[in-house]
Amino acid sequence: MDKLVHEINNPLLPVAGATIDEQQLWSRIQETLGPKLLETEELLHDFTLSNVPIMQELLDHISGSRGKRLRPILLLLSAGFKPANDYLLIKAAAAVELIHTASLIHDDIIDESSERRGRATLNAGFGNSSAVLAGDFLFARAFELLALCGDFELNKLLTRAVGTMCEGEIEQRNCSYNFQLTEEQYLRNIYRKTAALMEVCCSSGARLSKLEDNALQQFEAYGRNLGYAFQIIDDVLDITGDPSVTGKPVGNDLREGTVTLPVIYVLQDPQWGSYLEEVISAGDFSSRSLDFLLQPSCIEGPVAKAVEKAALYARGARECLRDFENNPSKTILEDIAGYVLQRKR
Ligand code: FPP
Ligand code: MG
Repeated sequence: MDKLVHEINNPLLPVAGATIDEQQLWSRIQETLGPKLLETEELLHDFTLSNVPIMQELLDHISGSRGKRLRPILLLLSAGFKPANDYLLIKAAAAVELIHTASLIHDDIIDESSERRGRATLNAGFGNSSAVLAGDFLFARAFELLALCGDFELNKLLTRAVGTMCEGEIEQRNCSYNFQLTEEQYLRNIYRKTAALMEVCCSSGARLSKLEDNALQQFEAYGRNLGYAFQIIDDVLDITGDPSVTGKPVGNDLREGTVTLPVIYVLQDPQWGSYLEEVISAGDFSSRSLDFLLQPSCIEGPVAKAVEKAALYARGARECLRDFENNPSKTILEDIAGYVLQRKR
């Protein structure tokens, strides 16, 4: 399956007609948030310490493959429009990263995934029981941090988002091998499992900087739209991504019978739809039987259509920021919406 990946023309479209220079974007994030990100890292380090050596071994394995820190970045940038209490902000930023990491650990157990961020998953390396407990540990530490914030509403919003993520994840499982899954059902699932947390990251940042209710809703909507775009691209990368860049094997979703947006579009194709249904139902995920999916005539249209949908959400996200003053946080948030579309990992 991998060999055909690079033959596909990259259909990812820039959101505002310009390609976002990823390196430059991360430099601007560093310039704008540098000390806050550093403090968030320190807190993440302190809150992933355990006196129990086996737990520490698991935590070290997780820390060895850090992600992009997108959720704390979103929270900190959304607080960049009015002065905020940094003490609370940093704790909330670290908490959302811990929630996200815990959710990925649990997701890998559920998906029986063997690789993430280029490394063995906890479940693959240490077994399911240890992985569940390490996820629970991080999850508990996240809420310890939130308790330290002493902000009842923040606590409520994030706790609710976690419940929503669990609902999304179980709904997705419940929809496995459902080849009749509609685009609407798919969007509902990805809202729950992915967009709900991004939504609350942005609204939390805005809340902590005491923005008014209507402004807060704009940030919430930015995070929600970004979350949809992010997950649709994630689902595209599951098919067309380069595993050496994404850090995870291609075709995970197909193996799980997870019907994603590009797959929904392939299923709608009169020529390829029934063939794909047969392959997934038969559970034959050998490279030979899946190669057809990567033939440009099969996948290019559905992928381009899915990317167009993601671009619509990314544009929606940018639109939500229209009324706010121009400042570095705003332009970075706008560019993150563009980056999410062109990301390769
Ligand atoms: C990755 O999606 C997983 C999620 C976005 C959310 C998973 C949520 C839970 C397991 C429930 C919440 C649990 C806790 C402890 C907070 P994906 O499988 O599409 O992406 P992937 O390809 O990166 O695995
Ligand atoms: Mg997964």
